[in-house]
Amino acid sequence: MAMKTVLVTGGNRGIGLAICQRILEETTDVKVLLGSRDLGRGQQAADFLSKQISNCQERLEVIEMDTSSDESVKKAASQIDSLFGIINNAGVINTPCINTNYFGPRRVNDALVGVLQRPGGRIVNIASASGPNHVSGLRGELKEKLAKPWTIKGGISELDELAHTLTKTSDNYGTSKALVNAYTRLHAKSEPDLIINSVTPGFIASDMGKMLGATKPTADGAIPPVNLLLNEEFASIPTGRYYGSDTKRSPLDVYRGPGDPVYEGPDWE
Ligand SMILES: NC(=O)c1ccc[n+]([C@@H]2O[C@H](COP(=O)([O-])OP(=O)(O)OC[C@H]3O[C@@H](n4cnc5c(N)ncnc54)[C@H](OP(=O)(O)O)[C@@H]3O)[C@@H](O)[C@H]2O)c1
Repeated sequence: MAMKTVLVTGGNRGIGLAICQRILEETTDVKVLLGSRDLGRGQQAADFLSKQISNCQERLEVIEMDTSSDESVKKAASQIDSLFGIINNAGVINTPCINTNYFGPRRVNDALVGVLQRPGGRIVNIASASGPNHVSGLRGELKEKLAKPWTIKGGISELDELAHTLTKTSDNYGTSKALVNAYTRLHAKSEPDLIINSVTPGFIASDMGKMLGATKPTADGAIPPVNLLLNEEFASIPTGRYYGSDTKRSPLDVYRGPGDPVYEGPDWE
């Protein structure tokens, strides 16, 4: 059986660790590269997984990767020959966070897009309901760009320039995740033979979520991203979409919760 290799950034704790666990438990043909900015913390997470899941060691490898650093990402990427998928999970909530939350996925994808399986390789960017919530409160040109990324005529490089101007916004976290959603749409358009989407894991009691009062276990937060990574359903429908925690299509400019009607607006105009 051909083994598929997937990279999970920030895989050493929280939702990232739960994603690694879910992939290893739910599959027999997927190898996980557990990304961690600290090798020791990554190894501790791998030891934990090895105790939880019998015989998973040969499908699990720790890779040092600080997604906020060009140098670290390039060094890690030089050790990876081929990939089926990337889950860009690493994230922070403290301000400023655009370097990690937006430019993190940007640099990881740029460094590794060349080794992704074609056709059909997958990228899952972890966004947040904070993205659409943020966009809903904007007005004017910025709202237009983040709600309808196809109006960003300069594509991803224009979005990068825009991101550099937004590093000091008060809702820096919401801004960073709105940028991730816009990027996902533009990136998918420029890479038609890849399956690139973004998703919110839901409101989850990781270290980050607990500070905000979340109660759902991290295992719940792993379900939507792993679904987007592995489910065949997403191979035959348009990509570049943002999904809610129920893995249903959701808009970029207003919050849609589980059970609300599925979004059916345009992908591109
Ligand atoms: N929890 C929620 O309710 C919620 C809701 C919506 C979206 N999200 C998103 O879900 C993702 C995971 O969050 P979480 O809740 O699991 O948070 P968390 O418990 O704080 O874990 C964050 C993970 O990201 C890693 N990380 C942070 N900066 C990094 C960097 N520069 N390079 C590599 N790894 C880095 C951390 O590594 P260290 O251990 O080295 O710090 C840790 O493994 C984030 O993108 C977050 O924005 C979470």
